[in-house]
Amino acid sequence: MPAKKKIIKKEAEQEVKEEVVVEAAEPVAEEPVVEETPIEETMPQPRRSVAFIGSECYPFVKTGGLGDVMYALPKALIRQNCDVKVILPRYACIKEQFQEKMVYVGAFDMDLCSDGRSFYVGIMEYVWDGVVYDFIDNEEFFSWGKPYTNLVDDIPKFCYFAKAALAALNYMNWTPDIIHCHDWQAALVPVFQRAFFADTPVGRAKSILTIHNLRFQGIYNIPTFKYWTNLPEYMFDYSVMKQGYEDANMLKGGLACCDMITTVSNTYAGEIQTPFFGENLDAHLRYHSGKLYGIVNGIDCDIWDANTDKLLPANYTAANVIEQKKKNKLELQKAFGLEEDENKMVIGLISRLTNQKGLDLITQIFHQVIDGNTQFVLLGTGDGEYEDAFRSYENTYKGTVCSNIMYDEGRAHQIYAASDALLVPSLFEPCGLTQLIAMRYGTVPIVRETGGLKDTVEPYNEFENTGNGFTFDRYEAWLLLDAINRAKTLYFENRKGWDEMVVRDMEKDVSWEVSAKQYRNLYLQLRP
Ligand code: ADP
Ligand code: GLC
Repeated sequence: MPAKKKIIKKEAEQEVKEEVVVEAAEPVAEEPVVEETPIEETMPQPRRSVAFIGSECYPFVKTGGLGDVMYALPKALIRQNCDVKVILPRYACIKEQFQEKMVYVGAFDMDLCSDGRSFYVGIMEYVWDGVVYDFIDNEEFFSWGKPYTNLVDDIPKFCYFAKAALAALNYMNWTPDIIHCHDWQAALVPVFQRAFFADTPVGRAKSILTIHNLRFQGIYNIPTFKYWTNLPEYMFDYSVMKQGYEDANMLKGGLACCDMITTVSNTYAGEIQTPFFGENLDAHLRYHSGKLYGIVNGIDCDIWDANTDKLLPANYTAANVIEQKKKNKLELQKAFGLEEDENKMVIGLISRLTNQKGLDLITQIFHQVIDGNTQFVLLGTGDGEYEDAFRSYENTYKGTVCSNIMYDEGRAHQIYAASDALLVPSLFEPCGLTQLIAMRYGTVPIVRETGGLKDTVEPYNEFENTGNGFTFDRYEAWLLLDAINRAKTLYFENRKGWDEMVVRDMEKDVSWEVSAKQYRNLYLQLRP
């Protein structure tokens, strides 16, 4: 068993508003437990090659679940006999420990703009755990302290990135069977591929575009896009990129041009075809529904393993979770200035603080959740109004509520391990990873039945003693309160039933195994 580290102390600096993003790797991620790659013959045949293209990837840069998926899915695909290269921007904010290990592959100039302006494209490579990471290097675009700033800068940045990624594949003379693009930042890849690369080697690859969050699309005025892409007029047709009267939409264009669309849960795949969840693209998605599939996310079970997690005061498995969780809880209470009492129910919340995450439901009922037996721990950054609300709760309920307004991987691990329950009452949730991590750490999720939350958390059934968590359907605060109260009732009045659910959650398969096979099947469908 690894040496145990002391839990991170609550620091005064946590009061300071921090940037949402740019936390790169915690030391723990440097040496994940590597599962042995199966020998060739046991692998499913045939072998397929895939280029992942996206804007973030743990541990280099992560702002949310996209970063987790860009790291964990390639690793899982390797076990499905896929040859994977991940193409990412080389942001200046990537920690030195990674930058210094990157190896220069080559560089060239690439035409981009309508006035003939061309840009430097450098390729820096880093191989880790069987996955090849190729970083697109250009200081003009990627020298900011964080990956995303504002659309004025981000639109040119990701126009450049999408084209550079394709050009880099040709430069490296590596033509994958599949180009797998992620979210709006990589959505122009299939558009550029059709417009400019059709007669080049990379033009032979089939393309998949995965929607991790339809809310973000990369919309800006057409003249700006025309300047930064030099794309032909037909790409600005209403059926491709045009939106409204004068705008173009990167995601919309990618969805039109790619060979296949996926999103990160089956329920979300259906939801986004309706006006409420469709973010103005529901008609476009219904039109392209013949090539749309939903595959639920998993999590990396090496990084998220309570038995080997070096950041936990007490490691555990399903066999000793009940006792060991109490130790983690007591350490967390001590470190976070909460009353030290293993009998209190600790409810956690680890989230970007935006309206997607259902925080207005929580603020409506917060005072009814806190009682003499319940503590609340938040870890998150985001909108000022929510940050202020949670700061004020901590002031009101000193010793009972702790609001960590920050982004901190280490604290996330400790809160997952120490909490009894985790709230995810989202307004919409394409998949959601926090409920999966919670279950893997024996923490009971309390979720709204939407998107991936609906697909991954089976509601508790008190008659059959089945299920993994507590759920509610309509987006109403009193229904969230009711779900929390149902959880409290089980916790305080039927601890045996609660503990059995904790063990069930730890034993649930939340790995990438099944979903990686489904992705592989889609790759084979496109490239038999
Ligand atoms: P989203 O991508 O919409 O933010 P997900 O549930 O898919 O939501 O993924 C969130 C990921 O970010 C999880 O790995 C979660 O642990 C992590 N995370 C969110 N907020 C924080 C934070 N403040 N500190 C550390 N990790 C965080
Ligand atoms: C997005 C979604 C989240 C999903 C993640 C990874 O950020 O908001 O629900 O889990 O992408 O796919």
